[in-house]
Amino acid sequence: MSRPRGGFAHTSANERVARIIRPQIVSPSTVASAQRACIALALVGVTVGVCAQAPTELTPRPGLPGKDVIWLGSPEALVDAMLDMARVTPQDVVMDLGSGDGRTVITAAKRGAKAIGVEYNPDLVALSRRQAAVARVADKATFVRGDLFQADLSAATVITLFLRDDLNLRLRPKLLDLKPGTRIVSNTFAMGDWEPDDLVVVERPCAQWCSAMMWIIPAQVQGTWRLPSGDMTLTQTFQVVTGTFRSGTTRTPITDGRLRGDQIMLTAGRVRYSGHVNGRVIEGAIGAGRGGVKWTATRVPARQ
Ligand SMILES: C[S@@+](CC[C@H](N)C(=O)[O-])C[C@H]1O[C@@H](n2cnc3c(N)ncnc32)[C@H](O)[C@@H]1O
Repeated sequence: MSRPRGGFAHTSANERVARIIRPQIVSPSTVASAQRACIALALVGVTVGVCAQAPTELTPRPGLPGKDVIWLGSPEALVDAMLDMARVTPQDVVMDLGSGDGRTVITAAKRGAKAIGVEYNPDLVALSRRQAAVARVADKATFVRGDLFQADLSAATVITLFLRDDLNLRLRPKLLDLKPGTRIVSNTFAMGDWEPDDLVVVERPCAQWCSAMMWIIPAQVQGTWRLPSGDMTLTQTFQVVTGTFRSGTTRTPITDGRLRGDQIMLTAGRVRYSGHVNGRVIEGAIGAGRGGVKWTATRVPARQ
């Protein structure tokens, strides 16, 4: 499966971000102190021209500092495409790790999902809360000020990211421990040698940062599974499954094995198996279509 590639293979993501932004960083605290000064002058009956146009809301400039990466907003069209790719519904719990100005969280909440942003920059958290109130989704969109690497991700069914390749890799072990079927969607940045299950490229209206990849957390199937007709020994690398089916003295290689969350598909000889992994049991059908013969496999405990 091909992966979208930018024309900046030899630069770090921070360098890429730094290059496309203008160095116009308006600190939120500067805005806040200007507002405080104007309020104080107004209280003593003095008005000055600049106060008449004093900003009432922070307009974040790309480049605001975060902990591990600066703020830059995902293009709105890509936010929509990312949530579409993850098929977000009102049953989902969407978490945006490094939620910036809250745009992904607010868009997910508008789709009816429970949405949570984790953001290190307190000014961006405050701005996100105000934006959620303006969009009338404050009941569904919540923002936590904190470090995304410390966040409890266990409630999430969809996680969105716009970080960097190395930060995605740091998160990867924690993501792989999430419930099978959880969708991870990343603006532009990859997950090392874990190939995506899906990808999207937005052409218009989108100028930069226009592609996203999705990974579906696979069930853990590595090991031996017993069927009435023999034993399947599976080796798993992320969502790719290989192995051997042993029936009596016959050994058949397993090919085209793949997991999509808790759904497994594989071929042994000429037989195509599909099934649903539920802990220590796989149940499914042999052959294509609904009329397939049912099969069940149970996990053989690993020897101590
Ligand atoms: C490139 S922006 C993405 C913003 C938003 N997710 C979007 O797609 O529009 C990355 C965000 O991560 C935040 N961030 C960086 N390191 C963080 C950390 N360790 N914990 C929480 N937030 C962090 C930054 O402040 C910034 O807002």
